[in-house]
Amino acid sequence: MAVEFFDFGKLSDGRRVSAARLTNRAGASMTVMDYGATILSLCIPDRDGKPVDVVLGYDTLAEYEQHGDYLGATIGRVGNRIGKAEFSLNGKTYTLAKNDGENHLHGGNEGFDKKIWRMAAQGDSLLCRRESPDGEENYPGNLKVQVLFTLTADNRLCLTYDADTDADTLVNLTNHSYFNLAGKGNVLGHKLQLFSERFAENDGGCLPTGKLLRVDGTPFDFRVEKEIGADIGADDEQLKRAGGYDHNYVLSGAKAAVLYCPETGIEMTVETDLPGMQFYSANFLTERKGKGGRVMTPREAACFETQLYPNAMNCYAFPSPVLRAGAHLHTETSYAFRIR
Ligand code: GLA
Repeated sequence: MAVEFFDFGKLSDGRRVSAARLTNRAGASMTVMDYGATILSLCIPDRDGKPVDVVLGYDTLAEYEQHGDYLGATIGRVGNRIGKAEFSLNGKTYTLAKNDGENHLHGGNEGFDKKIWRMAAQGDSLLCRRESPDGEENYPGNLKVQVLFTLTADNRLCLTYDADTDADTLVNLTNHSYFNLAGKGNVLGHKLQLFSERFAENDGGCLPTGKLLRVDGTPFDFRVEKEIGADIGADDEQLKRAGGYDHNYVLSGAKAAVLYCPETGIEMTVETDLPGMQFYSANFLTERKGKGGRVMTPREAACFETQLYPNAMNCYAFPSPVLRAGAHLHTETSYAFRIR
């Protein structure tokens, strides 16, 4: 159950990047690099005991730097979108980077996914820490943030986030792993259950309008398990706008999702203390080379980004992403694996 560190290469500016490997006695393992506190691999034994890498990634650091798309990365300061890249806090307007059309996405041009974190073993877990200075990507307040990665003996990946600030600011942290429980092909045949009755309506730019829609009678209804591909091509305005699923679901309790791959028998249960989860069917994953030469294409994986509702500062009925000076933020999300 030890944590081992190794070199993962150099960024184009010469800075060295390290990675850590966590293993457990059940035959599961994961690797995380300090650049972006990014999950590089997560290997889970299938029904025959053969390890399957259930997350997408690249072979080299250069590809992470060039292609991005947040594969496996820790996202911050504010995950998902902020409309018109602007928000007001305590009477002051903050203007952020417009890195997704007119909107701000995943913390800006150089979000937490592009920063080198400090890594250290904490028992059998891996602790990633960084200080985001006041004014970084135009957000106010010096923010201290840490993410603890734990792989338990019973194949549960636990992500624990903590943050503190010295001035009022916004925080919405998540992990952007792209899951494919077959380790190959697309996820259209994966079965999914989502514990949610409502989801956020998107505008044309995948930005929540502030309205919550009921899933009843729509392709967004996953209350009863169904294949991800079952309705993804339906003639539905919300699906067409995003090119598939790319929507924030309102969670009804700690259990957010169960994903199952009939081919490998691997089942993944997502649990969180956060109120929302972006379910994204990798619609924008343009064709590119991934780990071991695998060619990745749209729908190759699904993301379950647990979070506060996106665009919350501009949709006043949504839970607030404001972290007050002196207040402490603590949230937990887990991805538990078992064989069905
Ligand atoms: C999130 C967004 C998507 C897309 C991906 C990254 O999941 O909701 O629209 O931007 O990140 O490609």
